[in-house]
Amino acid sequence: MKTLGIVYWPKKGSVELNAKRIHKEWGEETADLISLRDIEPEGLLNYSCLIFGCSTVGADSWRDAYTGNPWNMFFLRMNRAKTDLKDRKVALFGLGDQVLYPEHYVDEMARISNELKAHGAVIVGRWPADGYEHTDSKALKDGYFLGLALDEHNQADKSMERIHAWINDLKKNHFF
Ligand SMILES: Cc1cc2nc3c(=O)[nH]c(=O)nc-3n(C[C@H](O)[C@H](O)[C@H](O)COP(=O)(O)O)c2cc1C
Repeated sequence: MKTLGIVYWPKKGSVELNAKRIHKEWGEETADLISLRDIEPEGLLNYSCLIFGCSTVGADSWRDAYTGNPWNMFFLRMNRAKTDLKDRKVALFGLGDQVLYPEHYVDEMARISNELKAHGAVIVGRWPADGYEHTDSKALKDGYFLGLALDEHNQADKSMERIHAWINDLKKNHFF
């Protein structure tokens, strides 16, 4: 079993594209890349470190736990299973559009962070908010995003260098 699990959703778009880039940048031989639909909450316990990747598609579509949204269903299953992530280090990355949604840029990282923290996870790998054009975000704290913020609509050319620097920081300062 590999030490790092990279869990992401949705598939087929920018989240998956960047999950693959992150997997490659980390080193494919020591990390598993897993779609959220292909893992059960207890599967998280196989990994000493985790990265979660998500997009933001508007608050309303996430609220109803019975819409079949995989994140909602996953967190419901985590709650039922009382999955214990105590002291497990988790880093987040989020895709969004800072120009069309400047007040809610990458908001969903905040929700994912809260859900995982409620199970004892320690969120690491915050990312400086300099160089973005957003005006607000739920994922913003003290000038940092809770995790790596990416934007394939407006700053696609920056994604690779951001991933490179973020993974370096995770390896050097947070994971292991
Ligand atoms: C209906 C809808 C609502 C969105 N709302 C937000 C938002 O509130 N904040 C944000 O940063 N991006 C928002 N976006 C942009 C997406 O997060 C962005 O397109 C992202 O790259 C999608 O990831 P995917 O290609 O993996 O599906 C929204 C996109 C759609 C289609």
